[in-house]
Amino acid sequence: QVSSELAFAQRLSETPKSAAEREAILANPGFGDHFTDHTAVVDYKVDAQGEGGWFDARIEPYGPIALDPAACVLHYGQEIFEGLKAYRHADGSVWTFRPEANAARLNRSAQRLALPQLPEQTFLDAITSLVQADQQWVPSGDGESLYLRPFMIATEAFLGVRAAREVSFRVIASPAGNYFGGELKPVSIWISRSYARAGRGGTGAAKCGGNYAASLLPQLEAEAHGCKQVLFLDQENDNAIEELGGMNVFFVFKDGSLVTPALSGSILEGVTRSSVLQLGRDRGLNVQERKITLDEWRSGVASGEITEIFACGTAAVITPIGLLKDENEEIGSAEAQAGEVTMSIREELLGIQTGTVPDKHGWLRRL
Ligand code: COI
Repeated sequence: QVSSELAFAQRLSETPKSAAEREAILANPGFGDHFTDHTAVVDYKVDAQGEGGWFDARIEPYGPIALDPAACVLHYGQEIFEGLKAYRHADGSVWTFRPEANAARLNRSAQRLALPQLPEQTFLDAITSLVQADQQWVPSGDGESLYLRPFMIATEAFLGVRAAREVSFRVIASPAGNYFGGELKPVSIWISRSYARAGRGGTGAAKCGGNYAASLLPQLEAEAHGCKQVLFLDQENDNAIEELGGMNVFFVFKDGSLVTPALSGSILEGVTRSSVLQLGRDRGLNVQERKITLDEWRSGVASGEITEIFACGTAAVITPIGLLKDENEEIGSAEAQAGEVTMSIREELLGIQTGTVPDKHGWLRRL
């Protein structure tokens, strides 16, 4: 039976990175290149009676995973993941942001990928235990945090195509600065005309590796054209804006409305997306989740109706978008300045996360 009473045993590393090495990494963390000393793990198995259960929750030294070469995840991509962050406040305490939302989304993704449900408490305990073991890795610089990457993989070895009966849930942590590197500045986006990220009835609303694998070729195309991210459209639905390779997108209109594409079943329901919607409502903005097309983006920028566009996600936080382009056209400008609304929502969100702005919605959880 699924238990929510799993305590994470501490099997701490005998060879953690030295303080000097850690400090050197924290001085310039980048994004996703360095990892802390530990990982949280909990395994799952379906027994002979068909009962599934989680067991052997532990914190162990960070390192390679031993997997059978026939492990299901390696062949059929039965995998899901999450992204959230731990923030250091001025008094030294460490907090995370809306982890219950990530736990719930993980379980929605698990349902779609035929993976087992993970009790919310186990998700929270994994994160808390890992961050406690690796507290010294939580950066304190402006815009910096410890990025947490929970993931669930099908570890059972077999080649028939079916849902695995052995699974592992893990969390790794990586000190993080700006996702796009360097100082925050508006990014350029490439329109993917040939490729979709997800289709109707597919896995677009789930946070699974396959969606990101599908974004890599168009992402290469974007980079070859000097762009930082790729924009996916619903080509069978008037080129409705879906999302970027790894983040959601928002539009600020001259009349004060704040618009993001409505969840279509193929868009990832971002935790940052939902937080921005709430902050917009708190400000009394006319917040809309609706269909917005490439034509509206083009004409809105040309007429001045759309005044700001930004990307948002846990990794990206809130990043202004300057230019949107493909082979035939350019909408906006790569030299654009970051918009006022964009930057003020970014500051408010980061302020809540880092404890300098009141947390009116009870989004923070102490680790
Ligand atoms: C996140 O924002 O946490 C993601 O998982 C997206 C990825 C671009 C890092």
